[in-house]
Amino acid sequence: MIRRWPRPLSSLYARAIAVLVLAVLVSHALSMALYHFEFVERLTETQEERLAEKLEAMKHLLESAPEDAREAIAHTIGGATIEAHWNRQNAIASTPDGDEFARSVAARLAERLTGVGADDIRVATGTSSDSATQPRLLLVSMRLSDGTWVNASSGVYHAPGGGLKSALVSTILMALAVVPVGIWLLRIAIRPLRVFSEAAERLGRDVHVPPIPESGPAEVAQTARTFNDMQKKIGKLLTDRTSMLAAVSHDLRTPLTRLRLRAELVDDLEQQGKIVADIVEMEEMVNSTLAFFRDDAVAEAVRPLDLASLVRTVVNEWTDMGHEVALLDCPPCAIEGRPVGLKRALVNLIENATKYGDRARVSLGRGPSEAILTVDDDGSGVPQEKLEEVFEPFVRLETSRSRATGGVGLGLALVRSVVRAHGGSVKLENLAGRGLRATLRLPLSPGGAA
Ligand SMILES: Nc1ncnc2c1ncn2[C@@H]1O[C@H](COP(=O)(O)OP(=O)(O)OP(=O)(O)O)[C@@H](O)[C@H]1O
Ligand SMILES: [Mg+2]
Repeated sequence: MIRRWPRPLSSLYARAIAVLVLAVLVSHALSMALYHFEFVERLTETQEERLAEKLEAMKHLLESAPEDAREAIAHTIGGATIEAHWNRQNAIASTPDGDEFARSVAARLAERLTGVGADDIRVATGTSSDSATQPRLLLVSMRLSDGTWVNASSGVYHAPGGGLKSALVSTILMALAVVPVGIWLLRIAIRPLRVFSEAAERLGRDVHVPPIPESGPAEVAQTARTFNDMQKKIGKLLTDRTSMLAAVSHDLRTPLTRLRLRAELVDDLEQQGKIVADIVEMEEMVNSTLAFFRDDAVAEAVRPLDLASLVRTVVNEWTDMGHEVALLDCPPCAIEGRPVGLKRALVNLIENATKYGDRARVSLGRGPSEAILTVDDDGSGVPQEKLEEVFEPFVRLETSRSRATGGVGLGLALVRSVVRAHGGSVKLENLAGRGLRATLRLPLSPGGAA
């Protein structure tokens, strides 16, 4: 079963970048967690130690100092990081029951400080005034042996839960930084894919295009080799098939000639006439087939040409021959093509229009990147379900199978083969009122398209 990606992730770029961003997010989240558990924990521990040391020093000095010097001593020992005051009152009445963190700090401080009991230390946490997301303050009240208090607050106390916003910002920044790197990496990775897709496109038009270079990274070179091998095999297959069909058609001519001679010996004149008509038809098929392959075998070079003047030439030739062919629109259209092949394709379309639809109306137009040629007629058209089938070699519709209209059914097959070799397309459609329209699309030359 093929797993489907969500619609926005259908391009390789989107997928790879999604994977990269996800990888960055996960690794970043993991490292942040690690940082938190290792570093922040240790930082907290260090800060706690320093706080304990200072409180210890204060306790010793204050207990032996005169009361009027105590406030100054507390302040000096506190220094820049701890703001300490000596008071008769405790600033924190009791460690709040619900504050797990404060309680654990209180317990650890009591353990570290000598001569300080669990009840002599009260701890509370608070946020500093500027922002709720700033590191929290730790407030400590410590009782001295004479019942007076040291009230201290540790300013930059790092409490758990802080810094979520900065973590988020850094994660987003990292994810964003990954996008250009991803695009750049993919450019490198996708380049060979482009080469292959273009090569496949060229191969679709002409199997005899030169092979693609077998260079680049090992995987790419290997794929290029496989691609070239495949192209060689397809080319050989086509040549084999063509020469086999040509050989069969050629060899059929001798027995057909013999048959024709033998038909003369048939006594029943009506039967003889029918047999000869069939033989003539077969001979025509053989001859057309041979002509088809002969022309196919002549590799005509692609060259820049103006489709408009080619169309004008063909239309003039047909009107000169006495057919009713009108040219409606014919702006200049620069294309790259094989003039003989294109002319044969156009002749076949005009021939069909005059043969099955009495008269032809030819019109050339320019799309943004392609030339659009239509050939309309006033005939009875082609049944809807046969519009594709008539492109197959030797397919002729029953109603037109009279000898008067001639033909063996190779015309449209040839049109399609020529047009496809030019990277274009051809389709048939019935017109609203009466008649058939053949639409032929051919890419304009890169310089001519705009
Ligand atoms: N303009 C048209 N109007 C009606 N039917 C058409 C038209 N063009 C083609 N067809 C039908 O499609 C069939 C195939 O056309 P195609 O040109 O391939 O062969 P053909 O004209 O019969 O023979 P050939 O072109 O080899 O001389 C025709 O026999 C005809 O029945
Ligand atoms: Mg035809």
